[in-house]
Amino acid sequence: MEEKVFSMPRIGEKAPEFKAITTQGDICFPADYEGKWVILFSHPADFTPVCTSEFMTFASMEEEFKALNCELVGLSVDGLYSHIAWLRTIKEKIEFKGMKNVEVNFPLIEDITMEVAKKYGMMMPGESSTKAVRAVFFIDPKGFIRTIIYYPLSLGRNFDELKRVLMGLRTADEFGIALPADWRPGDDVIVPTAGSCGTAKDRMDGKEEGIECKDWFFCMKKLPKEKVMDKILKK
Ligand code: BEZ
Repeated sequence: MEEKVFSMPRIGEKAPEFKAITTQGDICFPADYEGKWVILFSHPADFTPVCTSEFMTFASMEEEFKALNCELVGLSVDGLYSHIAWLRTIKEKIEFKGMKNVEVNFPLIEDITMEVAKKYGMMMPGESSTKAVRAVFFIDPKGFIRTIIYYPLSLGRNFDELKRVLMGLRTADEFGIALPADWRPGDDVIVPTAGSCGTAKDRMDGKEEGIECKDWFFCMKKLPKEKVMDKILKK
């Protein structure tokens, strides 16, 4: 039998376009989000426990993401009325880690045809042929995919990491630097490798103020947390 191949958008590519019905009305994606960052994420199914804990966490952090100029958009291959009933049940009945009465105000896409899920490589038949995996796409204000993270059905996402990724992407863009392992705002950052004409040697000799090199390819500088937050938080 012929094996079905689903496309997988990649980092650095334009986010595939689609029109969809959501719990907050129709959307044209990514056009409706021009000028903003978006976290587009899929969940396997409504009325399931891991997804419920994730939705409550996303909703509780929505203002933190908005403060970083980032909107949330969810998707599953369930229908609109299922989405509405599930979100109402979450608000009325579910308590998790001190969160209760949680209202989900960001759009949740209905994708019963799986058109969007397939376009974004959210279907992974080895894991499930009827449910999307837990995919997370970070899309920048110009509509380019900047980071993709996948989790399986059985493991809920780490929301500290999702926020760290967003802050990291924004910081790298704003300051033209790179960020080392486990970076968090306030940690030292990596300065791009110096070009030609003696700049690398100058750096190694400590002649570039504020830059400390361990070798020609490993140079770091301080970037205070206030400076980072001042740039990436919406004013
Ligand atoms: C959950 O969200 O709990 C879940 C969804 C699909 C498969 C397994 C778990």
